[in-house]
Amino acid sequence: MLQLPPIKLPPIKLPAVIGHRGAMAYAPENTLASFREARKRGAAWVEIDVKLTADGVPIVMHDDSLKRTMGIDRLVAQTPRAELPAEVPTFEQAIACFLELGLGCNVEIKPSEGREAETARVAVETLRRCWPAALPAPLLSSFKDESLEAAQKAAPEFARALLVSELGEDWRSRADAVGATGMNVGRRKLTAEGALAIKRAGYVLSVWTVNDPEEARAIVGMGADCIITDAPDVIIRALR
Ligand code: G3P
Ligand code: MG
Repeated sequence: MLQLPPIKLPPIKLPAVIGHRGAMAYAPENTLASFREARKRGAAWVEIDVKLTADGVPIVMHDDSLKRTMGIDRLVAQTPRAELPAEVPTFEQAIACFLELGLGCNVEIKPSEGREAETARVAVETLRRCWPAALPAPLLSSFKDESLEAAQKAAPEFARALLVSELGEDWRSRADAVGATGMNVGRRKLTAEGALAIKRAGYVLSVWTVNDPEEARAIVGMGADCIITDAPDVIIRALR
């Protein structure tokens, strides 16, 4: 059978600043209120975390448990959508809010353990069905190679970034294996050499989570294309 080569995506154009979980310095993370706050504070895009409920509904939530953000001692993967607090948006509700606000989005695929591929497939199916043509195309990211691989297989048209806390020796082979054109790297272990290697190799570099103005300027000085921050207004001002 004829094997088509994988689609090679052009590097995605990201804004200089993306609001982390909305604007979590000012509003409860990953909520519609947080997305509104991010927009109000000048962000053109937000980053969100997407995972699945017990009944397979994609929702916006960072942790596997509802304990820290909702005060409920229960796992998301064991909770059906109907039993989640109303403040937790479904991915579809978040997308509708982005359309209303004109926000772009870095969709982090944040699977509960064992649901890496499934979460990615449901997320990209939702994007295909609901993502508005009026908004810039989203960026998918994940710490999980398996999630990015499943996203690539199911919907190769969405740009992908490999998320890492630390580059490691194998970052480039991992990124290439899932057709990622971006690297989303944690600020703590980012070095000037690492940033240079990423940029020389032609990847779009985003760095998280940077809330200090001086640090943001230094990281942009290393070649970063985008800063992911809890306080978009502070970092937009710092980079002006
Ligand atoms: O996507 C950047 C950042 O959100 C990754 O870490 O734990 O905040 O999802 P985390
Ligand atoms: Mg995240």
